[in-house]
Amino acid sequence: MSEMKDTLILAVESSCDETAAAVVRNGREILSNIIYSQIDLHTLYGGVVPEIASRKHTEKINQVIEKALAEAGVTLAEIDAVGVTYGPGLVGALLVGVAEAKAIAYAAGKPLVGVHHIEGHIAANYIEHQDLEPPFLCLVVSGGHTHLVRVRDYGTFDILGRTRDDAAGEAFDKVARAIGLGYPGGPKIDRVAREGDPDAIAFPRAHVEDALYDFSFSGLKSAVLNYINGCRMKGETFSQADVAASFQKAVTDVLVANAMHAVEEYGADTFAIAGGVASNSALRAAMQEACAKRGVKFCYPSPVYCTDNAAMIGVAAYYEYRKGTRSGWDLNAVPNLKLGER
Ligand code: KG4
Ligand code: ZN
Repeated sequence: MSEMKDTLILAVESSCDETAAAVVRNGREILSNIIYSQIDLHTLYGGVVPEIASRKHTEKINQVIEKALAEAGVTLAEIDAVGVTYGPGLVGALLVGVAEAKAIAYAAGKPLVGVHHIEGHIAANYIEHQDLEPPFLCLVVSGGHTHLVRVRDYGTFDILGRTRDDAAGEAFDKVARAIGLGYPGGPKIDRVAREGDPDAIAFPRAHVEDALYDFSFSGLKSAVLNYINGCRMKGETFSQADVAASFQKAVTDVLVANAMHAVEEYGADTFAIAGGVASNSALRAAMQEACAKRGVKFCYPSPVYCTDNAAMIGVAAYYEYRKGTRSGWDLNAVPNLKLGER
């Protein structure tokens, strides 16, 4: 009787303000998932400061990796490959993880697998949905990206739509700052909106002409800013909760409408969401309802796998490794790496 050998991936993620490492077994089982979040540090400045992020990654990365291996009870010698995010993201931040992963892989004599950050976000869905397999549709909504994607196979995507301007998470962060909630805006708007009326203020729902699946959030952001300025000029106060709830509803409505157009057009039976904004409670509820109405299976990761983490990078790296993807010792950070490109 032959026994299948486990495949163990050590994964590293440092594309923005989380220093993260994880060990993943056979692509679906998370043995450890260590995240050092720099959020408190960047909150002082109202957003991520790239130079500070890079320095902090350099300071923390060895400890984070050591902890990931220790918690998994795995030695470097037992690892089959090292996976690392090499784009998109902040170049200085990415370089720390890429250089570290290369050094480890080189020294330990292991293959190196460069991973696209968004491919990682999508792969986060495989962790808690063990039966989820391509093809399916996925909406990726993060601080830097808003993509409606058809996942044809592991690591093979068709991009159906994308944002023309701000990313969904970016809109959350900017609106939160404008109404005095501070950084990071998404979770704060999510919380405050629960006390507000989503129909209190009629913010616009932008649909991009001739591009059914594209998004635009800059008009909505301006409408919120105009509303607030209008109130201030009239000497009136505004309800933070109503603005948050109405803004959140406007974003969610557009995301759900475009997503369901795609579900119908492609006859999809499974729809997934991914990225930091996928942890938004209103978005989850609205997607759940829209999918249920159409008899479509709805998948979403737990919040810890929605925001940046290395477990999702390890899952994506496993499927790339299995396909034979190997990165050379000349792997570099690619800050504007496109999905589906290598
Ligand atoms: O995926 P992520 O951690 O980083 C990027 O790859 O960009 O996403 C971070 C984004 C931020 O804009 C943050 O405000 C947003 O995700 N976010 C949320 C929530 N939690 C995080 N947005 C709305 N509701 C939330 N609960
Ligand atoms: Zn991300």
